[in-house]
Amino acid sequence: MFDFTGKVAAVTGASGIGIGIETAKHFFAAGARIGICSRSQERIFQAAREIGGEDQSRIFAMPADTSVVKDTEAFIGGVIRRFDHIDILINNAGVQFPGPSVEFTEEHWDSTVDTNLKGYFFAARYAAKEMAARGKGGCIINIGSVNAVTVVAGQAVYAAAKAGISQMTKSLAREWGRDGIRVNCVAPGSIPTLINKDIYRDPAVERAMCEKIPMGRRGTTKEIADAVLYLASDYASYITGQTLFVDGGLTLVHG
Ligand SMILES: NC(=O)c1ccc[n+]([C@@H]2O[C@H](COP(=O)([O-])OP(=O)(O)OC[C@H]3O[C@@H](n4cnc5c(N)ncnc54)[C@H](OP(=O)(O)O)[C@@H]3O)[C@@H](O)[C@H]2O)c1
Repeated sequence: MFDFTGKVAAVTGASGIGIGIETAKHFFAAGARIGICSRSQERIFQAAREIGGEDQSRIFAMPADTSVVKDTEAFIGGVIRRFDHIDILINNAGVQFPGPSVEFTEEHWDSTVDTNLKGYFFAARYAAKEMAARGKGGCIINIGSVNAVTVVAGQAVYAAAKAGISQMTKSLAREWGRDGIRVNCVAPGSIPTLINKDIYRDPAVERAMCEKIPMGRRGTTKEIADAVLYLASDYASYITGQTLFVDGGLTLVHG
């Protein structure tokens, strides 16, 4: 359905079994040249092999911690050096530390805010600067969360960072619209990945979540990747500044 032949797409946090690697696979299958990063050298090179197999000509993989500004700059710079430019950035790398707020530490705060918010801003800043200078526009998609609008005990800082992403998305969309850069946010509901596997270890928790979701089930990484590719495509050429909830209706329940 989507054709990204000739496009360069960078995805942060694209290792393991999560939303990032699935999105990178979809861009690669749709013909894009892709740049991927995550903190672990072993995991990101494994992801590159999983996505491209023998064909690594359209993949740039690099270990980079996006909570660290110089790493983020090095990753975006590396993608541009390897493929000449960048058309699409997917800010996806994320962490969360669910638990009682009275036990939340400064290290948890720094990791949550620096990865989920600061990293998104600086990756967008470096990508947008190059997109604007090149004069051919571009597209930035931030992976937010239903937590931006729902209220879950024990996730105060994660929720604040994700709400910040939705608001930052609007601000940057307004600021960069004249440069032809669209900025949107995809906000997933509950998707089985490594980020939440401990929460759902108890089948009763899984059942309770499925009962709450109007569509009666949790989503898949593919369903999130499909929404990301849609927003990155020309089918969404007049959409900017929006947060698209891909959540089986979960946000309807929380109001
Ligand atoms: N799954 C859900 O239900 C859900 C719901 C709403 C929103 N989200 C959001 O979706 C995004 C992807 O999450 P996921 O569910 O796919 O989780 P995941 O399976 O834990 O994947 C997270 C990815 O980010 C990487 N990462 C974490 N911190 C990083 C950092 N500082 N720098 C670079 N890479 C980093 C991890 O690799 P390394 O460990 O190698 O760094 C991994 O590749 C996150 O932003 C998350 O908040 C997920």
